[in-house]
Amino acid sequence: MERTLLIIKPDAVERNLIGHIIGRLEKAGFNIADMRMEHLTVESVRRFYDVHQGKPFFEDLVDFMTSGPVLPVLLEKANAVADLRVLIGATDPAQAASGTLRQEIALDVQKNSVHASDSKETAAREIAFFFG
Ligand code: RTP
Ligand code: MG
Repeated sequence: MERTLLIIKPDAVERNLIGHIIGRLEKAGFNIADMRMEHLTVESVRRFYDVHQGKPFFEDLVDFMTSGPVLPVLLEKANAVADLRVLIGATDPAQAASGTLRQEIALDVQKNSVHASDSKETAAREIAFFFG
């Protein structure tokens, strides 16, 4: 069973979309192994999104991800990493395929409602980050 990390971002928590997102994940065959709501610090977001340090959107991303609570969710399923990326869709909801979560609920390229690990290596690091 492969594991991956999803984060429900502040824009989705604020719009009461937690239940909707969890429902979509369960319908798609993911098991919820763990989850824990938290309000991230600036320091922890900077570490989590370390690969994006220096990019033009980085400081705005840190502001956004610390603007309210988030819900990291540990997921299990065969082929979980790749299947979750397909389920969430492209970063920019305007580019996201029809039927994907971001196409359905994301507001814009930044407030795109969910994060998902982008490789097996990233998933291992990100799972350790939140769930030890
Ligand atoms: P994520 O890491 O959150 O799952 O998103 P992703 O792989 O689809 O996209 P990535 O390139 O890793 O970007 C991380 C997050 O930064 C924000 N972003 N804003 N304003 C912009 O042009 C821009 N580009 C990226 C988004 O919140 C994106 O999910
Ligand atoms: Mg990413």
